[in-house]
Amino acid sequence: MSSPPALELQGLTKTYGDKLTALSDVNLTIHPGEIFALLGPNGAGKTTMIGSVCGLVKKTRGKIFVFGHDLDVDPVRPRYEVGLVPQEINFDPFFSVAESLYIQQGYYGHKRDEARVMEVLTALNLQNKADSLTRALSGGMKRRLLIAKALVHKPRLVFLDEPTAGVDVELRRDLWNYVRKLAAEGTTIVLTTHYLEEAEELADRVGVINEGRLLMVEEKKALMRRWGEKRLLVTFTAPVTELPEPLRKAGATLSADGRTFSYPEREGCAPGGDMLRALYSQGFPVGDVETRHSRLEDILIDILRGRPAAPSAP
Ligand SMILES: Nc1ncnc2c1ncn2[C@@H]1O[C@H](COP(=O)(O)OP(=O)(O)OP(=O)(O)O)[C@@H](O)[C@H]1O
Ligand SMILES: [Mg+2]
Repeated sequence: MSSPPALELQGLTKTYGDKLTALSDVNLTIHPGEIFALLGPNGAGKTTMIGSVCGLVKKTRGKIFVFGHDLDVDPVRPRYEVGLVPQEINFDPFFSVAESLYIQQGYYGHKRDEARVMEVLTALNLQNKADSLTRALSGGMKRRLLIAKALVHKPRLVFLDEPTAGVDVELRRDLWNYVRKLAAEGTTIVLTTHYLEEAEELADRVGVINEGRLLMVEEKKALMRRWGEKRLLVTFTAPVTELPEPLRKAGATLSADGRTFSYPEREGCAPGGDMLRALYSQGFPVGDVETRHSRLEDILIDILRGRPAAPSAP
């Protein structure tokens, strides 16, 4: 028998009062072992969705299954498999780093396990801070402790709600590597982030949410292929007045000042190299050559504005 999804949402809806719909009929299946990035602007409903699964938000309607267990039937046990790195820093400032992790182990019904606590602290480079009071940590260290707290009970499904907000570049890279390692070991990761580079680096699939509605869910690679483009840009050393018709027909354009040649490389069309050869062989004054890929950031903006995807190649 195939294993159940790590998470399944059916018609998940959350309303606040009678006006605000924070989540509207969200259907989503997260596969075991995948890294799923949930993207969307401020107030889109990301934290509400995570909170509904983790028991911090009371859903209005819909069903939530964690590893096949209906949370309406058993709201407690299935959540032992879940870890949450919350968006807001929320620990008690009067405990030491290690104590706060022992408490977390107890909270999830595990015995005090010093080896596990040290393992997690070491993985997050906090081993030297085990006895420090949590209030004496820097902002980035507090974030790392939040991650340690979410992981110390070895959850199989982990929510990272903006885990790298306010974290320095080096630590962000370390955390990415750690997340990849967890996923390789079979942990399922659901990540929200406003750093789209993070989703670009880590995610297997991407979901886009806006105003409580899940607009799309797609493999990241397919999304980037379908919505994004690779563009060849050539700077001429002298202005050019016109491009030959075959180049124009292939989609190449010239900037108003005649100095920049631009060609979108779409699947099934002539590769940029052919265009470049044509420019050289026809004596165009080729100076600088560059290729640009659209980033997830550009693509997300297009999706949120409701712009259609770039037409596929004929
Ligand atoms: N406790 C609450 N009471 C009333 N409205 C709430 C409450 N919590 C969240 N909301 C509203 O629900 C909507 C979704 O908020 P949510 O925190 O899920 O957004 P988000 O996608 O996580 O945004 P961000 O990127 O800013 O973290 C927002 O309009 C927010 O104001
Ligand atoms: Mg949020």
